[in-house]
Amino acid sequence: MKRDKFINYAHRGASEYAPENTFLSFYAGIFMGANGIETDVHLSRDGVAVLFHDEKLERMTGESGSISDYTLKELKSFWVKKNNLKDRIITLDEFLYRFKDFDLTFAIELKGDKTAKPTAELITKHGVADKVVITSFKYNELLDMHALLPSIRLGLLHQGEVNDELLEKMKADGINEICPESYFVNKDNCKSWHEKGFNVRAWGVYNTDLMQNLVKCGVDGMTVNFPDKLCEYLSTNGENNESNSNTEK
Ligand code: G3P
Ligand code: CA
Repeated sequence: MKRDKFINYAHRGASEYAPENTFLSFYAGIFMGANGIETDVHLSRDGVAVLFHDEKLERMTGESGSISDYTLKELKSFWVKKNNLKDRIITLDEFLYRFKDFDLTFAIELKGDKTAKPTAELITKHGVADKVVITSFKYNELLDMHALLPSIRLGLLHQGEVNDELLEKMKADGINEICPESYFVNKDNCKSWHEKGFNVRAWGVYNTDLMQNLVKCGVDGMTVNFPDKLCEYLSTNGENNESNSNTEK
């Protein structure tokens, strides 16, 4: 399923610059020209889908315990911090309500267990199925999502080499995007994944050398903490680059 539009996903928003998975980092990514946003879903103690990467609160908020130890109301009292910036934890509902009419693709990662059902309900509520790719390292969460929303695009996040057995299983299970770690992508395997009908979207783009190599390999998109640098590179080196129209409206 090779798509013709390259997606520059602001990874947890423009997380190199702003507190990840907050409105601040999402808007920063849009301002920098990203045409996609990647984010992570966990459940609060009272079962609300919230956007947060880690299971534990410590790294981003300085608070103790796990996301699932707190109600949404309690989580909303914490600050997510980066450098001298801070913002609040938000829900997936708030995220979709705010951004559903933007010219963006959303890569929504099912990070926590049992996140498929509440995520599917919110995708339906906001009518954004055609703008979403659901991703996860957890194969079972993708299967759960497929059962709930059979036509939603699904991407498997994978660490290490991608083998044919895995690709065959994905195809049989309706998973149409392979998301390899950037180190494991080369021109040959990218071409072969495309020939097998997969969209290829890389993750783990830790520096601009990896970023540039992925563009040369022909991936369909990647998640980057620095969407501004990818925009700049694509503007002179990319093919099929369409910047978003969100900053022109
Ligand atoms: O692009 C997917 C990427 O977000 C997966 O890794 O740890 O940042 O969720 P992580
Ligand atoms: Ca993620």
